[in-house]
Amino acid sequence: MKKWLTLLFAFVMAFSLLAACGGGDDAGDVTDEGVEDQEGTAGEQVMIKFAAQNDNTPATQAVIDEFNNSQDKYKVEWVQMTNDSAQMHDQLLTSLSSGSNEYDVLSLDVVWAGEFAGAGYLETIDMKMKDAGLNKGDFNSGSMASGNYKGKQYTLPFFPDLGLLYYRKDIVSEDDAKKLESGDYTYEELGEMAEKYNGEEGTKYGFVYQSKQYEGLTVNVTEFTKSFEDIEGGLQTMYNFTTAPWAPKDILNFTEGETHTNFEQGNAVFARNWPYMYGRIKGAEEGVTVATDQVGVAPLPNGGSVGGWLLSVNKNSANVDGAWEFVKFVAGPEGQKIMSTQGGYLPGFNALLNDEEVIASNEMLTYEGFKNALESTIARPVSPEYSKVSDTIQVQAHKYLSSGSGLETVAEEIRNAVSE
Ligand code: GLC
Repeated sequence: MKKWLTLLFAFVMAFSLLAACGGGDDAGDVTDEGVEDQEGTAGEQVMIKFAAQNDNTPATQAVIDEFNNSQDKYKVEWVQMTNDSAQMHDQLLTSLSSGSNEYDVLSLDVVWAGEFAGAGYLETIDMKMKDAGLNKGDFNSGSMASGNYKGKQYTLPFFPDLGLLYYRKDIVSEDDAKKLESGDYTYEELGEMAEKYNGEEGTKYGFVYQSKQYEGLTVNVTEFTKSFEDIEGGLQTMYNFTTAPWAPKDILNFTEGETHTNFEQGNAVFARNWPYMYGRIKGAEEGVTVATDQVGVAPLPNGGSVGGWLLSVNKNSANVDGAWEFVKFVAGPEGQKIMSTQGGYLPGFNALLNDEEVIASNEMLTYEGFKNALESTIARPVSPEYSKVSDTIQVQAHKYLSSGSGLETVAEEIRNAVSE
């Protein structure tokens, strides 16, 4: 397991790049921490509202059920939000900035957690962690760093994420598979393979990924441009892919959802997605016809973007204690085991990386291609005004990809946004 831990460490280091995000106002001190208020009581139980994105796996519901069954003081209710990250950001911001306590526990994307902490919307959890005997080192350090603002901790990991290339093992030759898994290939070569294999075993598409105008496009642009090292080149390749004969006609509307549906139904040879897609295939979720032995994973050509979600407590929650109990449960060994074994998520509680049960049910974690992907992660832009930067990237990239013209201007706009 030593090698595994070394790899994880590398991942964690790349991940913590995200955390350099600063700016915003100081969060101020928490003065009324721990005040027990029974507002929102459901019968004799205290209702805890969990604002979390829709999950494409059964894991989130399973973890909530397990918490609710483990005690009878609190009952967690999932307020299902969109899994369009930027939309969820805006929805939460509207609620929190009005001082609302409609949500007690919040799920936050790693790219904007710092902004929320800086704005003073979240409870600090340092004392609570101390009281519970929890150490920062118990958790994925990149995730922890993303929820640390001016030395204070505001979040625990819900799940860490990284971008992966999925390929059909039963279609791609052994030599090509080896090359992909090593990570030593380019997007151009991936395009050639997409062309070569498309049509085999009833496939309709060579490669599917996320190109709709939303946060997922920022992620994909980050990957195609190698974290904005080659903006023109990366966008040009994306345009070539958009118009390739093997691309879905509506690739410019593809999110993770369209991606997993097509790959899982056997329509695509290659797909770019997050680890959860393996969890769906493994769990043979509804509509999945591809089996795990037909699926391999590899690093993306320029490395996969780091992503993930964090758990935090609304500072205005009327039930801070109950909210914290739930956060602790989900981020702890029991919750993370459910997330990893039932959802295919990478565990955010480090000890589980050595857990036989986790490894046995999430064998992707031990695949060579996956381990190599952990070593080559890249980060989205880091900025205190992340949402604005990401917005510019999405709007500009989508404009170019829809028309194929104005590459230079678009690249210039993106360059300015990421260097601000
Ligand atoms: C995944 C990632 C998140 C990213 C989003 C983009 O949910 O975990 O970090 O922003 O995808 O669609």
